[in-house]
Amino acid sequence: MKVISIIAFAIVIIGVQPHGHIVDPPARNWIWTDPRFPNQPPNFNSQGVWCGDVECWDCPPAFYIPQDEDFSRCGMCGDDFYRPTPRDHEHGGRFGNGHIGRTYTAGSIFQMHLTFGAMHCGYFEVDLCADAVETPECFQRLQILGGTERLRPDNRMCAPHFGGESRNITATIQLPQNVRCERCTLRWTYRTNYACFPHFQGDSACGVDPNPAQTFRNCADIAIV
Ligand SMILES: *[C@@H]1O[C@H](CO)[C@@H](O)[C@H](O)[C@H]1NC(C)=O
Repeated sequence: MKVISIIAFAIVIIGVQPHGHIVDPPARNWIWTDPRFPNQPPNFNSQGVWCGDVECWDCPPAFYIPQDEDFSRCGMCGDDFYRPTPRDHEHGGRFGNGHIGRTYTAGSIFQMHLTFGAMHCGYFEVDLCADAVETPECFQRLQILGGTERLRPDNRMCAPHFGGESRNITATIQLPQNVRCERCTLRWTYRTNYACFPHFQGDSACGVDPNPAQTFRNCADIAIV
């Protein structure tokens, strides 16, 4: 009985929560699936790295952490802001072991692949920090040139509402000409909600109801030569 209710609970959670992660380049929460890094600890909740208290399953108010425009109440790699640093997905944290999943050429254009187990409306942006140890201040916004979904005028890609279904999407990203690094942190920030604002159908803004919204973040280690 207990097992059944746990399974039922898991289905409810997986079925309704917006969820997703960066597949390529592999995020710190996903690189454990790459056989090149056998010592990387697994994150079995790789799609659930968002700025709330993931250990607090029974506290619904914590599902949404109010954010300002700079996401300043979100850990810089998606962990609960109120945890001590380095947080789990930050460099030096439990999953931040510096394993470089991909090497790119400065100024090149690459395809970023994302997977969503449950897609909800909202949008995402992509940043790069070239410092050896990332800080909240070092991230610079990267240009999204195109991809499988619509772009917003503010250099964000729409993550449209598909009724919570699974979806893979691709964003074409431009790297700056003048940034090289032995290890850089590429970051994806996804702001989402169940309630689309304005209504998602035919809407070019693809916003979310800001109050409340949920913020997912992933960091990936890359090199740029
Ligand atoms: C997403 O991609 C993975 C890996 O290629 C594939 O197994 C999965 O079926 C895809 N999902 C969707 C909804 O297309």
